[in-house]
Amino acid sequence: MKRIVLIVALLASMVVVFCPPVAMAVEHNPTVIIVGAGMSGISAAKTLSDAGLKDILILEATNRIGGRIHKTNFAGLSVEMGANWVEGVGGDQMNPIWEMANKLQLKTFISLFDNLSSNIYKQVGGLYPESVAKVSLDLAEEMSEFSANISTSLSAHRQEDISLLASQRLKNHVPSTPIEMAIDYYTYDYEFAEPPRVTSLQNTEPLPTFDNFGDDLYFVADSRGYESVVYYVAKQFLSTDKAGVITDTRLKLNKVVTEIRHSPSGVIVKTEDGSVYRAGYVMVSASVGVLQTNLINFEPDLPPWKILAIYQFDMGVYTKIFLKFPYKFWPSGNGTEFFLYSHEKRGYYPMWQQLEREYPGANVLLVTVTDDESRRIEQQPDSETKAEAMEVLRSMFGKNIPEATDILVPKWWSNRFYKGTFSNWPIGVSRYEYDQIRAPVGRVYFTGEHTSEHYNGYVHGAYLAGIDSANMMISCVKKKMCKFEVKAKGT
Ligand SMILES: Cc1cc2nc3c(=O)[nH]c(=O)nc-3n(C[C@H](O)[C@H](O)[C@H](O)COP(=O)(O)OP(=O)(O)OC[C@H]3O[C@@H](n4cnc5c(N)ncnc54)[C@H](O)[C@@H]3O)c2cc1C
Ligand SMILES: *[C@@H]1O[C@H](CO)[C@@H](O)[C@H](O)[C@H]1NC(C)=O
Ligand SMILES: *[C@@H]1O[C@H](CO)[C@@H](O)[C@H](O)[C@H]1NC(C)=O
Ligand SMILES: *[C@@H]1O[C@H](CO)[C@@H](O)[C@H](O)[C@H]1NC(C)=O
Repeated sequence: MKRIVLIVALLASMVVVFCPPVAMAVEHNPTVIIVGAGMSGISAAKTLSDAGLKDILILEATNRIGGRIHKTNFAGLSVEMGANWVEGVGGDQMNPIWEMANKLQLKTFISLFDNLSSNIYKQVGGLYPESVAKVSLDLAEEMSEFSANISTSLSAHRQEDISLLASQRLKNHVPSTPIEMAIDYYTYDYEFAEPPRVTSLQNTEPLPTFDNFGDDLYFVADSRGYESVVYYVAKQFLSTDKAGVITDTRLKLNKVVTEIRHSPSGVIVKTEDGSVYRAGYVMVSASVGVLQTNLINFEPDLPPWKILAIYQFDMGVYTKIFLKFPYKFWPSGNGTEFFLYSHEKRGYYPMWQQLEREYPGANVLLVTVTDDESRRIEQQPDSETKAEAMEVLRSMFGKNIPEATDILVPKWWSNRFYKGTFSNWPIGVSRYEYDQIRAPVGRVYFTGEHTSEHYNGYVHGAYLAGIDSANMMISCVKKKMCKFEVKAKGT
């Protein structure tokens, strides 16, 4: 009876009436459908389940859970194409992901950048003298402190946000030489995937992740993969077989959601393979990059305030290129893990990491590019990328180095289920608009790292956002408290 009322109400509210095939008629309607089984979707589902809302259905587009935390086999090694570090360790509060990593005894390695001044290469090769590099690094550090000061005082005076670059101009220090640009890249782009020109000062300096959880970073290099933190959460509420494989029928893989019809009485979710699911509510965890495309068609359209907030935010692109060599030709030992390549073209193969500690004897280097370089590189054959990286390495280490035997170039930007790697807070988005990204629209709820109150862009952000969004939904379902208060503008 109830279901019929729901369907009638939904049909009545539709402009275009569609008739799901009879054979697809669902025998049972869940209370909540969760779109996406990355960290946030799994964390939201667990929170709902813990609160007694066990009648859920998770629809995931790919053939696995974990989303942007994704290990892969690279020349016999397990490497991370997506998230690699637990960021924010050693502070006053415990990073929940660090807690999981410890419980799982994940193999992690602290990343130390304290000897960078001895590891910055010139464009034409050879290291900058330590004293020269140190001056630039100290200046960048002072700049960063200055920016944090400016940020605090702008907030205190309720001034408009400015970009990180504008703050550098205020201090009359705009990085312009190859070494200054390399250090600037390391300071900002290497963290936010976008240049200081576009990144918000107020929402990155100081950064809540490091302020609250601590300054330390731990690199995960474990054959089980960083994604085991997602499995760890998932297995607390999804049933598994004896081998520990998730067999719970509430998780459906290879289900690409293409349409969400919503009305005051319920939702209908359609997938690419023609399945139709009905539920009371839906929780969408797809990345903000995906929401900026029309992969998921909302019927009726999301309201303009919601669409604008989503379109105004940024999805960054951060590309981790792994290279394997027959033997090592770079310095190794303590204080040599990270090195910078300076180039007149800012962001040209700038940030290098030798993974001797993480993968002993494997002779693997990791070079990171972002933004425009990422998009360019995603569109060219890997052989060309390899040739470019080799040329850079020859500049740094001489002509006689061996050719890389393997290369891995993850392509997150081209992937329609991600459209980038993680969100970055751009200038022009206030806290008010940011809160609108997370705000539910009727029975459609949103989660994902881009909805995290303080930690957008991070694994812990995705995990905590899942909990927060689920709690919002629980208040609505259980206590009929369905209004989401977006904090007033300017607070
Ligand atoms: C290269 C890279 C490096 C990173 N480095 C770090 C790091 O070092 N430290 C850190 O803390 N964070 C890092 N991050 C960020 C971190 O990985 C993310 O913030 C986090 O994993 C996002 O989780 P999520 O649940 O919000 O999104 P996702 O993991 O994207 O989950 C969303 C899920 O929805 C699915 N989906 C999308 N569209 C549909 C659809 N239409 N229908 C059904 N399912 C759909 C996707 O397949 C995906 O599984 C990195 C990310 C990348 C990609
Ligand atoms: C930042 O502010 C602190 C405290 O007011 C001050 O001591 C410090 O010198 C400032 N730093 C810079 C670089 O402006
Ligand atoms: C490298 O650093 C570690 C930890 O800081 C230390 O225990 C070790 O002795 C160092 N090794 C060398 C060769 O200096
Ligand atoms: C710093 O790096 C240089 C160059 O790679 C290396 O020779 C040196 O041992 C490192 N120093 C420390 C203290 O780690």
